[in-house]
Parts: sequence; structure tokens; C-alpha cells
Amino acid sequence: MLKGKNLIYPTDFTAEQLEDLFCLADRIIARPDQYAHSCSGKILATLFFEPSTRTRLSFEAAMERLGGKVLGFADSASSSATKGESIADTIRMISCYADIAAIRHPAEGAAHVAALHSFIPVINAGDGGHQHPTQTLTDLYTIRAKKGRFHNLTVGLCGDLKYGRTVHSLIHAMCRYESIHFVLISPPELQAPDYVIREIEAASGCSYSVNPDLDSAIRQVDILYMTRVQRERFASQEEYLRLKDSYILDIQKMKNAKEDMVVLHPMPIVNEITGAVDEDSRACYFVQAQYGMYVRMALILRLLGAEEEGGPTICGGRMFEKTCQNPRPNGTIHCQNPKCVSNLDLTLPIRVKDGGKVCEYCDAAIEE
Ligand code: NCD
Repeated sequence: MLKGKNLIYPTDFTAEQLEDLFCLADRIIARPDQYAHSCSGKILATLFFEPSTRTRLSFEAAMERLGGKVLGFADSASSSATKGESIADTIRMISCYADIAAIRHPAEGAAHVAALHSFIPVINAGDGGHQHPTQTLTDLYTIRAKKGRFHNLTVGLCGDLKYGRTVHSLIHAMCRYESIHFVLISPPELQAPDYVIREIEAASGCSYSVNPDLDSAIRQVDILYMTRVQRERFASQEEYLRLKDSYILDIQKMKNAKEDMVVLHPMPIVNEITGAVDEDSRACYFVQAQYGMYVRMALILRLLGAEEEGGPTICGGRMFEKTCQNPRPNGTIHCQNPKCVSNLDLTLPIRVKDGGKVCEYCDAAIEE
């Protein structure tokens, strides 16, 4: 069903396909031995142009636990990007060596561009401050495990809602469920981008409120999604220092929360959750990280088309006579978002979304 597809946005899969993936993750957790050789002979490329510990290692652990192999790099300094190679050419090369690729890149829309030029399935492992769909699969799987539903939930998102791509992806994914109320908890400087707010407004089953006060917001939420302030995405260090301690979740604040509230965090935690909260049974972020590996196992299996009884059927490394469908991009018009991948070397594609024109790669509004 998902064989050969890419995962760039969490909604690239239907709700039914997601449920199928989560059921597969359930089965892997129950009987990991049955999947230990499912990807034997297959190679995952991890192309990390931006640092990562958890996401990269969980992808690598996932592929190893499926019996496959991993190749790749952990920072852009050790890739040909430093020589000026385009994302399009890098992924074409990788398509010759691997069967599936996970890419993380600081430019917004980079994974989308890679998918346009790839001959193998591409997974977005984070594109700048834009999207992070495999973290969302992890978040949704944890919500499913802890709450047993994706509807009728009040979801508090706290911290850096401007640069936090995990927040953008989670909102994007949850907008298709019924009766979701988002409580956006951030200082005014770190509010969610306009395109994210427009997504909530366009979703029939969802609503939102803005409450910068964590003490009062915590009382109403079923899920509290904490995030760190994303130092590396600030243009000014001064601004970062001013905002970095905006929210600290401690046991005092936890006393005001519902007894069955669930605290999630994509990790890494800097100082926004005190250590004592870890002992509270409502703190679910470590189990969330653990689920992440199993969800990525299920994802790799599905994208490679590895049915449970048979072996994977997608095969990279066989490009040979294939012609490139999309010519090498070489444009001069760029998106107004300075962090958009179109500023590297690409022509800007425009799409109509929620009544306005947006950049196809990074969702930023296009003003003409
Ligand atoms: C997140 C990311 O990279 O966006 N981390 C992760 O994937 N585990 C969140 C973060 O870095 O704050």
C-alpha cells in the first residue's frame, strides 16, 4: 500500500494507512524476532546535513533491527554539499547505492526537492524549521498508546512554536481528526507561523486558543507537548538568550494538571522540564523516544514493500538506464523565506493552499 512512496509531510499517508503502520509497529513490539531479517540485503542511507542524535540513531537502529544495513553521513561537512553539489544530484547518486533514504537538511523544503529527483523512497527526517513527519508518527503512536484515540483532545503545545518543526508537523497531522483543540503556549516572539495557524483555521474539526501562561493552560490540556527553544534557528543570539527560559515545567506546575495528562517532548530536553518531572507517571517522553524506533521500523518495512511473510521488493542501486524525470533545477526566482531551499539553486514552484498562494517547498506565503 505504501510501497515506493515518500514521507515528506505527515499527511502524505491517509489516516487508514497510518493506522496500518501503527498496527505493524504493535506487532513488531510484540514479536521483534519475527522481523529481525525482514530487510536483509537492503540498505538505508542516512543523509544528515544537520546534526542529530536521536533521529539518526533511531533510524539506524531500526534498519539494523530489521536485518538491513546503513550508510550515510552525520553532518554536511562530510558530504559533497561542501563542494557545492545540489540536493538533486546527491539524491540521484544515493539512489544508485541504497534502497531507501532518510534526509535531514537545514533548508526548508529540502526533503521535498530530494523526493522529486530520487529513484528510491525518501523520508523527511527534518527540513529546517518546517516539518518533521517521523517525529509526528512517533508522537501519534504515543498518543494512541496513552490516550487510545486521536479525537476529542485538548493539546497544549508549549515553547518554541515558531521554529519547532515537530510542532508544525504535529498540528498538520492532528488537523484531520475531530474535536481537537490546540492551546498554543508561547511568548509572542515564538508564536506558530501563519501557515500553521491557517491550517488549523481551515480544519473543520479543530480550534485553537493562545495562552502564553503555562500555569493556567496546564489545567485544561489532555496532552502537553513541551519543546526546547531552538537556539540554532535564531538570527540573533541575544534574542535566544532573552527567550530561552520562557517555560520550565516543574513538579509544582504538574500539580495543577489533570491526573491523566500526558507530557510529551520530541527531545532533546535542555532546561524546559526539570529532572524531578521524569519520575511523574504522566511524563511519557522517554517511552515516546523508544516508540520512535519501532515506528521507524514499521515505516521502513512499508516503504520498501516488505510484507510480513515475504521480503522487501523495492530495490535501489538499479538506476542504470533510467532517465531523470525532473531536469536538474537551475532557477533564479526564489521564495521570500530566506530559509527556503529555493534559495539554494532552484526555481520557485507556487501552489494555492487555504485560499492563498504558497511556496510548494516550504509553505511560506507568496506575495506578488
Ligand atoms: C527535534 C528536531 O530535531 O526537530 N528532535 C528530534 O527529532 N528528536 C526537536 C528538537 O531538536 O528540539
